[in-house]
Amino acid sequence: MTETVLPEDFDRQTFLRDYWQKKPLLIRAGSLSFIDPITPEELAGLACESAVESRLIQVNEQQNDWQLRCGPFSEQDFISLPESRYSLLVQAVDQWVDDVSALLQDFDFIPAWRVDDVMISYATDQGNVGPHFDYYDVFLIQGQGQKRWQIGQRCDHTTPVDDHSGLKLLREFKPDQEWTVYPGDILYLPPGIAHYGVAEGNAMTYSVGFRAPSWAEIVSGVIDDAIDTLHEDQRYTDAHPRLPMHSGEIPADAVTQLQSLVHQLTDNPELIRRWFGKTMTRPKYPLDPQEHAEHQLDSIRSLKTQLEQGAILYKVPGARFAYSCHDNSLELFADGECYPAGLHTLSLLQALSKPGHIEPLPAEVIAAALTDEDAAQLLISVYNQGCLVLD
Ligand code: SIN
Ligand code: CO
Repeated sequence: MTETVLPEDFDRQTFLRDYWQKKPLLIRAGSLSFIDPITPEELAGLACESAVESRLIQVNEQQNDWQLRCGPFSEQDFISLPESRYSLLVQAVDQWVDDVSALLQDFDFIPAWRVDDVMISYATDQGNVGPHFDYYDVFLIQGQGQKRWQIGQRCDHTTPVDDHSGLKLLREFKPDQEWTVYPGDILYLPPGIAHYGVAEGNAMTYSVGFRAPSWAEIVSGVIDDAIDTLHEDQRYTDAHPRLPMHSGEIPADAVTQLQSLVHQLTDNPELIRRWFGKTMTRPKYPLDPQEHAEHQLDSIRSLKTQLEQGAILYKVPGARFAYSCHDNSLELFADGECYPAGLHTLSLLQALSKPGHIEPLPAEVIAAALTDEDAAQLLISVYNQGCLVLD
């Protein structure tokens, strides 16, 4: 397992001030050695699972035509691949592989709930996914092998793209920087920067991508939650009935009334906080409900017994937690669910919402939680939801 991926002298404050969401940065590994937490064969194995999102992208010799195929794949698909010029991409590997989710521990200078997933690519010589831009920040951690990255112009929704392969590739790519990266090097890219990375020999890349809901998703999500609080008899009314100037005209005060209704409905920080907490902790792909349905805890006693018998409580790889504090109370968000909690559970919520999942939950935090009925009940609820595991 890779203990740390950022060099010791990496200055997090300077990074946040000068680069985060602003401009690209190449972070050289220096003396750090990077050990891949997964092999290409294991990655290919994951790409054969139906619950896992994966893609195979092949490019022609001229590097001007890309072909996309979506998984799940079979062993035969891999056997019939050429020697070079393809990439296998597997989404959210942190959700399935603990050692991959452990890579996230080093990125704790950015809120854990901002992380979307760790996507892993395995490319053979000259393999690449074409010149493109993404709408989110990404740290591209180079694993085994090497890649040549070209970085280009700033793009947005008006930038012409060619979608005929299903890949939204840039019609025009204007590179202005070029770097070859080696194991442990990290390339940070803010949203909208054109990039194109070509493998030189076989290469693995770990993309730590960040969750950034669009304004459309935010507004529709908050409004959907607000709608759930409404009932059918709340309807449009004529607030100040008077003779219309013309019966076809919609008067300004009708619009003002609607505006105030929409405003009133969304002027609700609690509703917005809950929507956001649930949205940012929702798993990228649904967890297997069968798996945790079979392992339910029915009481605090049974949790205590298992711990006394030596079981250790871990977070499930990819389980997502966050908490918020308001009006002298707390709320825990776990995989898209919201749990009210007392202020005294703060250290438990903080332990749960630390990024990365390899470490067991600290024994002293669990011990304190078990002496407190509310905290212990919270642990059981979150366990029964499938976010924790006893091993
Ligand atoms: C890659 O891993 O080669 C592609 C990642 C990206 O460009 O977003
Ligand atoms: Co990209």
